[in-house]
This record gives sequence, C-alpha cells and structure tokens, in this order.
Amino acid sequence: MRVNSLLNATAPVQEVEVSGWVRTKRDAKDFSFIELNDGSCLANIQVIADANLENSETLRHIGTGAAVKVRGDLVESPGQGQRWELRATALEVIGAAPEDYPLQKKRHSDEFLRSIAHLRPRTNKYGALFRLRSQLAHAIHTFLQTRGFNWIHTPIITGADCEGAGELFKVTALDLDNVPQQAGKTDFSRDFFGKEANLTVSGQLEVEAYCLSLGRVYTFGPTFRAENSNTSRHAAEFWMIEPEMAFADLNDNMDLSEAMIRYLVNFVREECRADLNLFCRFVDKALPATLDNIADNDFVRLPYTEAVEILQQAGCNFEFPPAWGKDLQSEHERFLTEQHFKRPVIVYDYPKDIKAFYMRGNDDGRTVAAMDVLAPAIGEIIGGSQREERYDYLEQRLRELGFDPADYWWYLDLRKYGSAPHSGFGLGFERLLMLLTGVSNIRDVIPFPRTPGNLEF
Ligand code: 4AD
Ligand code: MG
Repeated sequence: MRVNSLLNATAPVQEVEVSGWVRTKRDAKDFSFIELNDGSCLANIQVIADANLENSETLRHIGTGAAVKVRGDLVESPGQGQRWELRATALEVIGAAPEDYPLQKKRHSDEFLRSIAHLRPRTNKYGALFRLRSQLAHAIHTFLQTRGFNWIHTPIITGADCEGAGELFKVTALDLDNVPQQAGKTDFSRDFFGKEANLTVSGQLEVEAYCLSLGRVYTFGPTFRAENSNTSRHAAEFWMIEPEMAFADLNDNMDLSEAMIRYLVNFVREECRADLNLFCRFVDKALPATLDNIADNDFVRLPYTEAVEILQQAGCNFEFPPAWGKDLQSEHERFLTEQHFKRPVIVYDYPKDIKAFYMRGNDDGRTVAAMDVLAPAIGEIIGGSQREERYDYLEQRLRELGFDPADYWWYLDLRKYGSAPHSGFGLGFERLLMLLTGVSNIRDVIPFPRTPGNLEF
C-alpha cells in the first residue's frame, strides 16, 4: 500500500506492506523508530521495529536514504504527532544507502540541492513541489477540456521562428566538424530536412491551424529559447500552455486567462492543501495572502498607454525610465502589481513595434491587440493577443518586418480560406508554479533546469 492511503485509514489494518525510503532512524533500547516516506504524500509513516524482530540484524544496516520494504500492522499510535503507526513484523532492505548519502537530516540550501538535482525530490520541499506540479498539469487539462478545448500536440522541431526574436536552438544532423558549404554559408539543403530547423519557441502558429478547424484548442508542452538571460525567471527549456479560440477577440482572451489563473489558484488551495501548506510555512509567509488576493479580486485591465502614464507619474527612480514605445521592464511590472494596484494586472494594446508580427493591428495604426498578464512578484506570467486575421494586413506586416511572405505561405492560407477572428495566449507553466508556491527561482520548479552553462543532468 501507499503511505497516503495508510495515513487516511479509518480503522486499524492487519498485515499491510509498504515500501519507501528511510528519512530517519532512531534506536531506543528495545525498539527502533523509522520515519518512512514513499513519495505519495508529504507525511512519513512511523515504523516501530522491535529489536527482537526475526531479522533484527537487518535493522542495523538501515540508514537514512535506504529503500526498505516493511510488513506489519497499522495501529493507533500512542505517541504524539501521528494518528497511525506501523508495527513491523518483517523488514527487508531493498537498497542500502551508505553513510555519505547527501541528504542527512538538516536543512539544505536550494543552491546545494540544485547540485544534486537527481536526489532533491527526496526532500519534503521538492517532493511537495513536484507532486503539486503534476496535479496542476492535470488541473490545467481539466479546466480546458471541460470548456471544450482540444489538446493538440504541436511539433517540437520546426522551421519557423514564431516569436521572431531569433533566440533559437538549431537542430541539425550535419557533421559539425565538416559542414557542407555553399557560397561561404552552411548548405542546409544537405541537412536532414533539406532546410534550417530549430527547436520550437512556441506551438502557436501550428495550433492556429487547428483552432481554425476545431474551434477551441491548446498546446501543453516544452518550448526552447536560447536567450542568454541568466535571471531567476528565465529557463532555456520551459513548459507552456497555449489555448487558442476561434471567433474570439481580445476581451474573450482576457476573460479566459483570468478565469484560468483563478481556477488554478482555487484548485491548489483546495486540492493540494498539505503540500501547499509547506510553502506557506517555510518558503513564503505571504503566500496565503497572495493567493487569496488573486482568487478574490478581479484583475485590473489597463491599456499600455495608461500604464506608461502611471509609471511616469509614479515619482519612482526606475533604472529604466518608462517611455511610450519601450517594453515594460520587470521593475515596472512589479510597481504596477505590487505597489500601485496591489493585484494582477492585464496590460493590453501594446505598441506594434515591440510585439510579434502575428498580433492584430488596432485602428490607431500604432498599437496591436496584445495582452500581458502581470502577477505580483513574478511579473509577466502570460503573453497573448488577438491574431491578425486579415490577409492583406498580415502580408503587409511580414514585409514591413523584412520577412518573406512565401516562408509563411500556409499561415497566410489560413487567412485566405475561411479566416475568422481568433485569439490565444501562452501561460508559462514554471512562472505559474512560482506564483502558486512562492518559490523565487525558476530552477527550483522544474525537475532538471536548463539555463546558460548548465546541463549536468
Ligand atoms: O510572451 P511569450 O513569448 O508568448 C508566446 O510565446 C506566444 N506565442 C504565446 C501565445 O500567444 N500562444 O511567452 C509566453 C509566456 C510568458 O508570459 C512567460 O510566462 C513564459 O511564457 N516564458 C518563459 N518562462 C520561462 N523561461 C523563459 N525563458 C520564458 N519565456 C517566456
Ligand atoms: Mg511575452
């Protein structure tokens, strides 16, 4: 049985078997007390092993970190702190752990635990984090599927640069020590696909094709960006959820993004209590208030132009002075969410020159129907837009930006045959986890983080 079901028992149980890893062992005169954790929940089960057990010799070999199998009876615990304990009748060491096991009973720093990323899920904090991550992924699927969204598995390898930012990891099967050349450049016609390929930065372009046929779709998968920004909020490989709705404008998009985040906040508060509680106690004391604030208040919706005005009148000494036409910096995002409005803010209608080519042009000719959802402490958690559905406008925009429309022929086709207004966004899964747990470094919410210079595991 798993420890979580044992601990939820309503009556004593005879003859049960559990397997897990030893957190601690304490020896008294006639008994040993073993705290066993099998990863099914935060709590350990306390095992009482009689020194006269048949194989009591085994007991001596059981140290912190060992994998063991215990058979015994679940009985009410006379001790403090737990309702049930397991009176062992037999013990078996499945895998011993020598004394240099790195996770001895003391608190380790996040930095140290990153250096043993293969073992950190055996700690309370990372066990809780990755159970929560899994449940949250499930909740995201539930939220979208119950609203009629279909999960589309968009490709990881693409020939397009969706965001136009050029921060791409190239994919090649060429022999890098002997690259074929043509007129002084790499000859990709001799590469695997006969053209340049890269890891996707977003599944959006492909998912739009399915949006304009199934109506409501989403992607949920890994994306890759070779941005060399070594911040606590950027990873080179991260997961993104990208819903896309047909016959929907920017307002519908804002409604969906807000409903989704509030649903997920309520989900963790209700369904992940024990694990969430760890973060409230040991990681971020302000977390309960942060989550209540998100769940209980409507998000502010603010045009970019007004956001810049507020920032300019703030009387703050920003490192980057806010100005119309410039991107909002994280200090600006934090000012808006943490000091000015004290809640999440959706900024919309950004200058077209700082946003991607596919965003729908507004009538003013200088802004696009873009939106970013900003959250306290995190900053941008969602980026999205209404998409340009007008063939001529899109083709013109591609030309303005120096792209060759021929490279986007199929994307343009979607505007030629049965085009329709449609909108979508990308929710950064790791940023969401940071928001919901108070963990302040993205490296600590993804199992094996990929950041510049780091590829150990
Ligand atoms: O704002 P972004 O770049 O939007 C897109 O990629 C659109 N194609 C999405 C869409 O409309 N379908 O990225 C979306 C979100 C960001 O708001 C952020 O939460 C997250 O993805 N993100 C990152 N998370 C971790 N590390 C990085 N390097 C990230 N870059 C973006
Ligand atoms: Mg963005």
